[in-house]
This record gives sequence, structure tokens and C-alpha cells, in this order.
Amino acid sequence: MSASMDVTRPLPGAAFGAVVRLAQPLSVAMPDGLPQALAEAGGLLLVPDAHPISRAPELLARLSRLFGPEVEDYRHLPTGRHMVHESQPEIYLVTNTVPGARPPPARPQPPLTTDGRLPVQYPHRKGWHTDQSYRRPPPDISLFYAVTPADRSRGQTLFASGILAYEALPAALKARVETLQGLHAQPGTGRGRKEALAGQTPRPFAPHERSQPQPVVRVHPVTGQRALYLCEYGQMDWFDGPFVGMQPGPHGDGAALLDELMAHYTQPRFVYVHEWSAGDLLVWDNRCLVHAATWYDAEKEQRLMWRTTVRGNPGPIYAGERRSWIAREAAV
Ligand SMILES: [Fe+2]
Repeated sequence: MSASMDVTRPLPGAAFGAVVRLAQPLSVAMPDGLPQALAEAGGLLLVPDAHPISRAPELLARLSRLFGPEVEDYRHLPTGRHMVHESQPEIYLVTNTVPGARPPPARPQPPLTTDGRLPVQYPHRKGWHTDQSYRRPPPDISLFYAVTPADRSRGQTLFASGILAYEALPAALKARVETLQGLHAQPGTGRGRKEALAGQTPRPFAPHERSQPQPVVRVHPVTGQRALYLCEYGQMDWFDGPFVGMQPGPHGDGAALLDELMAHYTQPRFVYVHEWSAGDLLVWDNRCLVHAATWYDAEKEQRLMWRTTVRGNPGPIYAGERRSWIAREAAV
């Protein structure tokens, strides 16, 4: 049985995305129109008042399966058990409330723009990324549910549309990036821009940790739309990249191009700022947008968010590939 819903586009204050209001509370009937709504909204949906998920976490796993058959199951990955929901192994905990949890990102400096706004544009705002782009094939969709968000004025999630940013590229830049590949690095492997600027020598990779090339322009497998597919400081490889075949390193031609593209990508006209309320569910398409987290006061606030990741439809360029992040497959 499917559940009816009301879709309003775009998201308030943005040029893309949609708000989906469900006719009935989430329960047995699943809103199976969500994937189509996601494609039509340019890859970002807000479903407010999804509170039943807090009491029945299996609903989040069932919702995730609407978007594809492969929902990441953390029983099969070396992720610490404390980072995974105790009864629902598809739910990754994004929080400051468990041992070993990561703190929120630092505040940008200065914390506000000259006209008093939250900074969104790179490089003032850093941390823009698309989830797990250091894997081939990369994932498709992320679902992010607010059990206990930070105060609405902090801990926001920012989104920039890769579709709108690509469309607005000057023709010469479009031609320049058409066949270019970015080299995406797994955070923690020591390949980030900070490490490169500090002159560090990165440790050798295990085969399943290797940085992965990805097209800068991705063609969406469902909509056929083209979108910029890029990350910046910590999720690109600044030793061998950031672009394949260009001068590498943090001072090279590749770095200059990446800075230009990311500043273009994250202009406020392409950005949506989500201020969280408890029970909000966001669904985003990693194939056509980037996102960034913002600071909150982890000393005073306890934040608990649940995330699932769906994969299985990255597009024909990845057809038949082994999974780069699984040790026994990467080593073959
Ligand atoms: Fe993310």
C-alpha cells in the first residue's frame, strides 16, 4: 500500500529541492512516490514531522530501500559498533553523544559574512563534499533524520546544487571540465590539502584505501542531467591530484582550478541552508549535489542524527566494477 503526499517545490529560500508532506504519519504505508519526487526536485527532499522513525527505526531502513536495493549494512564494514544503531545495522549515528564520536566542524573565520550572514561559499565555508566519493562505485542517496538536532541556529546542513552550478558554468569552463577526472581521497588517509600544505609525506595506502578518480561532470542515471561532482580540502587527493593529468599539489594548476570551481559551485544562489527541527528527514542525491555541516556547541548541546546510505545505481560508467573499499575485492 502506498501513502499519498503533497510536494511543494522548491525549498524555501532555494532554487531547487522540495518539501514533502505526507497525508498520513509514516507507518505501514510507504510513500513510494519519494524517488520520483527526489528526481524532479533536483536531488533534495525535506520530509518534516517524520517522528515515527524515532520510535520505530526500522522505518528509516524501509524508506531507504525505496531508493535502491543496496542499503549500507554496517555489520559488513569495519565501522565501530558504537557508531551504529544498536538494533538497526543500516543506521549510522552522527552525533557527539557516544564515545569516539567526532566533534562538529570548526566555525569559519570570521564566523559571519560582512553582511552578517552564515557563510556558505567556499573557501570561506569549507567542508563541502558528496558522501563517500572516495569509493568506486560511489553511493547514490543519503537519508538523514534528526532525532535530537542542535539549536536551529547552529548545526545546519548546507546543500549546493551541482545541476544548477553546472548549467551556469561559462562555456569555456564547461569544455575544460567535460572529460576531466577528480581524484577523491578518503579522509584519514593523510592525502588532504592540510597535510600537503604542511609538507607531510603520506603513508602508503592499503589497496582498499586508494584515492579514486571520478568524473567532474556526472550524468545522472535517472534524469540524464549533468552535474558537477567535486569535493575540496579533506576529500580530494592533494598529493597526486586534485585532478588527474593536471599539475598536482596544493599550489599547482589543479588546485587553482578546484578553487575556482568550488567557489562557483557554492555561490549562495545555488545553496539551500537547512535549519533542523526534531523529526525532520532529509533525502539527498549524492550524484548531483554537495553538502556541508556547520558548527554547533558540542560542549553544551547533544546532537543525535541517524544516517543511511543507498547505493546500486551510479551510472553505466561504473558497470561491472569491483567495490574499491572492500579489502578482498580491492586487492584482486
Ligand atoms: Fe556527508
